[in-house]
Amino acid sequence: MNAPVPAAEAANSSAAPVFPDPVSPSKISARGVSVYYGQKRAIDDVSIEIPKNYVTAFIGPSGCGKSTFLRSLNRMNDTIPGARVEGEILLDGMDIYRSAMDVVQLRARVGMVFQKPNPFPKSIYENIAYGPRIHGIAASKGELDGIVEQSLQRAGLWDEVKDRLGDSGTALSGGQQQRLCIARAIAVDPEVILMDEPCSALDPIATARIEELIDELRGRYAIVIVTHSMQQAARVSQRTAFFHLGKIVEYGTTSDIFTTPREERTKDYITGRYG
Ligand SMILES: Nc1ncnc2c1ncn2[C@@H]1O[C@H](COP(=O)(O)OP(=O)(O)OP(=O)(O)O)[C@@H](O)[C@H]1O
Ligand SMILES: [Mg+2]
Repeated sequence: MNAPVPAAEAANSSAAPVFPDPVSPSKISARGVSVYYGQKRAIDDVSIEIPKNYVTAFIGPSGCGKSTFLRSLNRMNDTIPGARVEGEILLDGMDIYRSAMDVVQLRARVGMVFQKPNPFPKSIYENIAYGPRIHGIAASKGELDGIVEQSLQRAGLWDEVKDRLGDSGTALSGGQQQRLCIARAIAVDPEVILMDEPCSALDPIATARIEELIDELRGRYAIVIVTHSMQQAARVSQRTAFFHLGKIVEYGTTSDIFTTPREERTKDYITGRYG
């Protein structure tokens, strides 16, 4: 009988490294994922397990592919002409790129919050009610009202807007608009929330509110956040993946990545030597 290949030797092959989560069961498993824009490969053979009930931060220099990879997790790249995804992305073990996948349903399960708050040009109420209505989540007006209130409560916005639900969502401050967008994502009862630099357009007070909110929300969801702020990654996340040139260089618990990074490139980035 052949002796089993020692792990270190197996890992020494030319295949890109696989990054299992150290503790928690996976919500999302990405296996050998590459993303192309036409001929150009922006993500190169990335494998990572993203856990439930934690915040995973994606960090790395501009242009390394963080947004591209994030968008591949709920098939937002489908909306970009010329973009193509290879490999497998499993949500609870099911391939989200399979042909039978209902993409509208997928994006309700895996919600997204963007860098620039993008409320619909509709009332605050309608911004939240829209998703539950198209997904048939509420059986009555009363139930819909309840979802609107609860989503705004959980996003920490209810007290500021409860007396003006009919006002336009775009009339809110930037920080309020971002909480409105988070409330809108929550309203359809997602399982994962993807956030691409959600605080980069916000002042420090609005940023602190969003960070508190992220911490509260992780009890219910898997959260992935892209951030350029090392302080923010250290404050809000429990897992960190360092991207460089379309690959994940290192992934681990946030405390390990920030205190004892194994790779020189990670060390250089988090200490501000480049990026
Ligand atoms: N729609 C697109 N069409 C063509 N190329 C794109 C497109 N979007 C991104 N790219 C390219 O893919 C690579 C990765 O870009 P991406 O936006 O994912 O990086 P990022 O890490 O999010 O950067 P940043 O920190 O600046 O937001 C870059 O070289 C970028 O120019
Ligand atoms: Mg980006």
